[in-house]
Amino acid sequence: MQITFTRPDDWHLHLRDDEAMASVVTATAERFARAIVMPNLSPPVTTTEMAMAYRQRILNALPADSAFTPLMTLYMTDLLGHEEIVRARQSGIVQGIKLYPAGATTHSDAGVTDIRKRYPVLETMQKEGLPLLIHAEVADPEVDIFDREQVFIERHLIPLKRDFPALPMVFEHITTKDAVEFVSDCDGRMGATITVQHLMHNRNTLLAGGVRPHYYCLPILKRGTHQAALIEAATSGDPHFFLGTDSAPHPQHAKEAACGCAGCYTAHAAIELYAEVFEQAGALDRLEGFASLYGADFYGLQRNRGTITLEKHSWVAPESYQFGQDRVVPFGAGKTIDWRLAGISRQADRIS
Ligand code: DOR
Ligand code: ZN
Repeated sequence: MQITFTRPDDWHLHLRDDEAMASVVTATAERFARAIVMPNLSPPVTTTEMAMAYRQRILNALPADSAFTPLMTLYMTDLLGHEEIVRARQSGIVQGIKLYPAGATTHSDAGVTDIRKRYPVLETMQKEGLPLLIHAEVADPEVDIFDREQVFIERHLIPLKRDFPALPMVFEHITTKDAVEFVSDCDGRMGATITVQHLMHNRNTLLAGGVRPHYYCLPILKRGTHQAALIEAATSGDPHFFLGTDSAPHPQHAKEAACGCAGCYTAHAAIELYAEVFEQAGALDRLEGFASLYGADFYGLQRNRGTITLEKHSWVAPESYQFGQDRVVPFGAGKTIDWRLAGISRQADRIS
């Protein structure tokens, strides 16, 4: 069996930089026409100029005939100013500003310490129509790690939506039923990405019968009832919800450690894994909307014209891939994946 549909986009991706980036970018570029590239490098991408240089490094790492367009983001710090927002908007290459609460996740130390103090800059973004992409977890050490998303909704998202009704916002990598309900009730200026690991797994995979560090990401996997709500949202055909892998490669030794870092590397088989989830939910016909249409509509970008073809054919994910000087263990290493990439038609999807 084969399915062919509009080429998908990945609305949330970590590519890292330099040699490490060069070893993972092709996996995404073979599948997706575009990806929103996260700015949490070290140091973070905080200016349009840095974003342009990073974009060029990504393009340089791709084969000349690649039909992939990286879409760039800036990292919001306590210092990001109005002029930079305007420059970002005018550049045409920056599609959003990423908000990490300081200390919430990997490379978030330079993040925002007090969202209310960033209100003037959010006003400018609202005026410019530049989306705010939100890592929606409180960094408050008093709050239980499994509750950090719900608490963020109450403390920050409800006020943000009230105070900036016209600002496009993406609630990134939602992990709870509460997030699904919140987003469903919002208008079309609120979108949400959903990762494949949060659709396929719950916290039992991470913790029952042993700690499995390759399933540790932030926001952390939640209980099965939340997983069920995410599957329902993703496969519902509701355009609030679209694909964002949050593929976040780390060297094997940094994950398999006494204090392992957060992030699942899913780019090696991202669209194939989503196809598995949609097939199991009896909703393969809704994969195209989620993967290829709703995100572009949210960002006000053209839908892709090329297509992707997947075929039902099992293969086994390798134990690891090259990652710069290191190895990266992919999501589902050594396990069978039901779908494989059969090909893409690249027709005019490259935007120069
Ligand atoms: O698990 C995660 N990994 N969550 C994030 O928010 C950041 C990401 C990373 O950059 O590794
Ligand atoms: Zn991320």
